[in-house]
Amino acid sequence: MTIRIVHLSDIHFGCENADALEGARRFILEQAPDLVAVTGDITQAGYPREFAAARDWLDQLPCPSIHTPGNHDTPYWSVVGRLCWAFRDYGRYIGPDAFESASLPGVQAIAINTARGLQPRLNWSKGQVRLEDAALACRRLAAGEGLKVVICHHPLMEVTGGPMTGRVWGGVAASRILAEGGVDLVLTGHVHSPFGHPLPFADQRTYAVGASTLSLRERGVPAGFNVIEADEACIRVTAQGWIKTHFEPQRSWGFDRRPRTPGETSRPAASAA
Ligand SMILES: [Fe+2]
Repeated sequence: MTIRIVHLSDIHFGCENADALEGARRFILEQAPDLVAVTGDITQAGYPREFAAARDWLDQLPCPSIHTPGNHDTPYWSVVGRLCWAFRDYGRYIGPDAFESASLPGVQAIAINTARGLQPRLNWSKGQVRLEDAALACRRLAAGEGLKVVICHHPLMEVTGGPMTGRVWGGVAASRILAEGGVDLVLTGHVHSPFGHPLPFADQRTYAVGASTLSLRERGVPAGFNVIEADEACIRVTAQGWIKTHFEPQRSWGFDRRPRTPGETSRPAASAA
């Protein structure tokens, strides 16, 4: 059984790349994946009209979707709003701001919220993760069968060579919890640049995967999204990039899956192409 997930991020409705977004919509309609995962920054400034546009777009998808908020999904230009009702409009239009989940044959997914409206540091847009949230995600995923996926907005560990940082408070410790908890994939956005690497904990079979953006806020790579295909032995990630009129594969990664049965021989952790 092969599971297919389309991983979108940082659409930034209000500043979206309309052509690329329409291309992504057509791609998803044609490919009919099992699940669409949207890893935050769904809007540009958290305005209701941006969330409404996002809701209209998401409602056109032919498959289930799971979402998590990013720092841009708070009332970006209102300190009072970010302090008092950071995820109110996200909740009205998109869904719960934490622990949204999807349970499908062959895949279990759950969202952790790493975005905050305010933080006791100058740059409130960086990430935070509660370790108890990571532990709870592991417990909930353990109850189901198949590929175990956590989604959040900020990469929990810094991306080597990435165009920006996440600086997630608690990110390294949460990564360890997710790896020791048997999570297969941690899907994120924020840096607007695709990546894939094993987390350096436990059996190194938990993989951090980031998607590009579908907005005009490109950071040195084309607008795009990831296609994730997982069978019993392998997880393949392909970053699709928007080349003026169409999507083309830009990079791909192949990861060995954690053995499913006790006693199965381990193989090298990962390969990239
Ligand atoms: Fe973003």
